[in-house]
Amino acid sequence: MATSATSKLLVSDFDSSVSHIPSNYVRPILDRPNLSEVESSGDSIPLIDLWELHGPNRIDIVQQLAIACSTYGFFQIKNHGVPDTTIDKILTVSREFFHQPESERVKHYSADPTKTTRVSTSFNIGADKILNWRDFLRLHCFPIEDFIEEWPTSPSSFREATAEYATGVRALVLRLLEAISESLGLESDHISNILGKHAQHMAFNYYPPCPEPELTYGLPGHKDPTVITVLLQDQVSGLQVFKDDKWVAVNPIPNTFIVNVGDQMQVISNDKYKSVLHRAVVNTENERLSIPTFYFPSTDAVIGPAHELINEQDSLAVYRTFPFVEYWDKFWNRSLATASCLDAFKASTT
Ligand code: OGA
Ligand code: NI
Repeated sequence: MATSATSKLLVSDFDSSVSHIPSNYVRPILDRPNLSEVESSGDSIPLIDLWELHGPNRIDIVQQLAIACSTYGFFQIKNHGVPDTTIDKILTVSREFFHQPESERVKHYSADPTKTTRVSTSFNIGADKILNWRDFLRLHCFPIEDFIEEWPTSPSSFREATAEYATGVRALVLRLLEAISESLGLESDHISNILGKHAQHMAFNYYPPCPEPELTYGLPGHKDPTVITVLLQDQVSGLQVFKDDKWVAVNPIPNTFIVNVGDQMQVISNDKYKSVLHRAVVNTENERLSIPTFYFPSTDAVIGPAHELINEQDSLAVYRTFPFVEYWDKFWNRSLATASCLDAFKASTT
């Protein structure tokens, strides 16, 4: 018998007191992780060394990005320029954040996905019918000065560590967007230019140990709404990517980031680059932390396939051009689902 729903707002405030997950976390049989059928990543997710991105071998790295974005939609990067100390600090401060007493964490609680700093649980607690074994802190972090006064002040180094990390990752994202623009045969500033004033959000995902990980998800299969996502994970496995009809575990490599193509990149590239399904599973033994940086257009930006990638003969526009805010509203009006949010943005074929 599954335990019934609890009155706690966050999973981390009841996980250690249950031996069965509450019934509202239990997935139907056909929608469970089947963990024994998941493949181990081995070398199937490309690992790209960015060391030479600004040297004479730039063209090689750009070519590796083209292959990774078109065939996998996911890749790992090393020598990415974000200092190890910056990464250590953000992992430490986020672990400290989630280890604080309930009263400190729930101060920031909100079920409203439009809030620019908030703690919540599951994915979209107002829309999820089955809940997910995840708590999170999500915040906007560009421009930093517009949001930093909303961020938590406890632990005391939280704002400083987060500002340093967000700044470092943004510089990395801008380098990646230039190289990815070139990999599509576009001017190197093409992608950056159409993102308007740009937007950057971070999530601090906290996945407590789970007594029945076969019955539930940390996050169910989904595609990211971003241009690109840059994920930092701790040393506990949990991320899985859907590749060739199988779920593949992306096991952590210290000091690397995992980058994935998001829905906006799929639109800009006119389907050359694919936003790929991925999910997070939980385990009985260890808590897990992951820190995705979500890079977006600003809400006033207008997104559409790059004109250079469209021609009358063999490459019609797959998507219409749309105000990003239209996509954004659609994304947050739903629960996390494997169905792509992009179907509503297809170009009409008549
Ligand atoms: C996400 C996500 C994966 C992870 O937050 O969108 O896919 O490993 N996270 O936490
Ligand atoms: Ni994701």
